[in-house]
Amino acid sequence: MIFESHAHYDDEVFDEDREELLASLKEHGIEWVINIGASLQSCKNTLQLMEQYPFIYGAMGVHPSETGELNEENFAWLCEQCSIDKVVAVGEIGLDYHWNEPEPQIQKLWFERQLELARKVKLPVIIHSRDAAKDTLDIMRTLHAEEIEGVIHCFSYSKEIAREYLEMGYHFGIGGVITFRNAKKLKEAVEYIPMDRILLETDSPYLAPEPHRGSRNSSLNLPYVAQEMAALKGISYEEVVEITAENAKRLFFK
Ligand code: NI
Repeated sequence: MIFESHAHYDDEVFDEDREELLASLKEHGIEWVINIGASLQSCKNTLQLMEQYPFIYGAMGVHPSETGELNEENFAWLCEQCSIDKVVAVGEIGLDYHWNEPEPQIQKLWFERQLELARKVKLPVIIHSRDAAKDTLDIMRTLHAEEIEGVIHCFSYSKEIAREYLEMGYHFGIGGVITFRNAKKLKEAVEYIPMDRILLETDSPYLAPEPHRGSRNSSLNLPYVAQEMAALKGISYEEVVEITAENAKRLFFK
């Protein structure tokens, strides 16, 4: 059974058919889903989904692009939610210099605070890093992130950067991008990363794999990702599904 390690089912694009879609996951082989907080509101929505669906778990965190909304008061609220049973990670947190909003100083401050939160509550982290490879690694080294477990979500850097994260003991979230024809650098990195460090993810509703690129993504598309990974790794589809699920359970279900 497939473990979906990164989805945003609280997104409004699922308002129309969320119940129907989520109810259909199991018969399509999706057994576990982690819904990822990206803003304070989406953390609240994630808590609701967790309550409603036994197979949905949650990550509590504020995405770098949303860190402008954080202050001491709502950060204290975020910290409290991390002690809820089905909250299995702090995330998604990190740095995103693609849009450069809010300014890097603010993003860095709340990345550090949320890393420290994960250490305190003993949860793994889900890291979002876009166009910010150096600063992400610098902060993680300074704060000894090798003592905090986690996953680099939607890994999009080179093999060389992958090596750095491997040495820190991190996992890699791999999704639809692996099926894109122009994803040569990522395919090389995936060939290089050991199978026991890879998690399957979609980032739904974003990043749908081929042949559905550009449309609304959902966990139902994960078989396309697993198939491509099996081809790259020279192992069977079933092995990819089983190993990545074991990896995710080891990381999130302790
Ligand atoms: Ni995400």
